[in-house]
Parts: sequence; structure tokens; C-alpha cells
Amino acid sequence: MRPRTGPRPNVPVTIDGVEHQAYEGETLLELARRVGVRIPTLCHLEGLSVYGGCRLCVVEVAGDRRLSPACALEVTAELEVTTQSWDLHEHRRRIVELLFAEGDHVCAFCVSSGSCELQDLATEHDVDHIHYDFAHPDQAVDASHPKYSLDRNRCVLCTRCVRVCDEVEGAHVWDMAMRGSQGRIVAGMDQPWGEVADCTWCGKCVLVCPTGALSFKGRATSEMVHDPDVVAFLAAAREDGEWLDRKADA
Ligand code: FES
Repeated sequence: MRPRTGPRPNVPVTIDGVEHQAYEGETLLELARRVGVRIPTLCHLEGLSVYGGCRLCVVEVAGDRRLSPACALEVTAELEVTTQSWDLHEHRRRIVELLFAEGDHVCAFCVSSGSCELQDLATEHDVDHIHYDFAHPDQAVDASHPKYSLDRNRCVLCTRCVRVCDEVEGAHVWDMAMRGSQGRIVAGMDQPWGEVADCTWCGKCVLVCPTGALSFKGRATSEMVHDPDVVAFLAAAREDGEWLDRKADA
């Protein structure tokens, strides 16, 4: 995680009974990661805007009956939160189960098995069976792009691909269409991906996808490796004007 510069942290926040000092404007998730407290996430990715859609990162806030998403919760003085409890574990486990029931996540046949954040979350939350009926979606697979393919049945609608393409690559190829159980990501004007002229073939959407929904073509089961950290690296390098400096030095 990128170290902060500037004034010292001076906002007292208690996490799981231990007091920490947060920076003004820091989110609870940023603080937790800085001090080494693990809060599970799925849609969040350092370097991208906050989406707050998956609700895996919820925490209990003293004095509030509702659960709050740590990725979108800005710290305030005297904030007191619990990040680990039986209820939170159950809540998160149910979310993971619902994601499995909603899509087609048969790991044994997935190109991303072994490099899948949903699979890791299932292991972390002791998901060894699903309490819900499987929806067995039959969404279209888009293999029209020469380098990549999209299996919407494995998409968890985290919108990382949408955000990285818009905010980092500046191409805005991806978007969300429809709502609820009909929700899906679409390329261009809901065209086959391979026909979208704005796609720069950078592959960032594939690298940040947490599941096997987006993959490089030509990889067999378990061969696809994601690299979501690339976004934090790019965001930090741009903030530092790294490439601009190099150009100026040349
Ligand atoms: S990581 Fe916070 S809502 Fe998804």
C-alpha cells in the first residue's frame, strides 16, 4: 500500500478494541490495511474509485444497527468498529454463497481456478456447500475479441473492468446494462467485444477481473493469472508523474 505523506495521522479510531490514528479523509479500509487488519473485499481495488457494491467489507459500527462498508466509510474521530465477529463471518459467507448460486462458478472447469478472488473468499469463509438453489444462468459468452474472452456467467458485477477501462485506460469500453438479476456488463453499445473500435487491447480489464469472467484466450483450466495490483502501481506512478519525469530527463 502506498505510504502517505504530509501531516501525521491524528484521528483516533478504534478497530476491534485497539486504538489507531487515522488520517483525515482516510477510509476505514485504508486505515485497516495500513495497520494490518484484514477486511475481505471483492469490488474494491486500490487505484480505482470506490464502488461499494459487493458488501463483503461490511463492519459493525458502535451505535449504528446497520452494517457499513469499510471501503466507503470515511473515518471520524472516536469511530469504533468491529471487523471480525460471528455475525459478520456469517453475513460475508452468505454473500459468497449467493454469488456462487447466482453464477456459474464451477472451479474445476474454470480457466482462473487458483487465481480467483471469489474462490479465495469461499475458502476464507468456510463455504463448502451452498444453501441456495443454483440459478444456472445461460448468459452469452463473448469470444469475439482476438485476444480475450468474456464469460458473463462467471461475472460477479464488481465493475472493476468498467472502472479500470474508464479511469485508468481512458477508453470506457465497458459499462453496466440492466438491473438486478438481468444486470450484465456490455462492451461498447452492447456490441460484440471484438467489434468495439475503442478497445485498445491493453488487457487491464482482464488483469483486474476477480474471477474467470474475463480471461486471455489460449489458456487452459487453471492457467489464467490475474494481476489486480497493476492498478495501484499505475495510479501511484501517474500521481508521481513518473513517466513525465523520465521524458523530461531524456
Ligand atoms: S469491497 Fe466494499 S463493498 Fe465491495
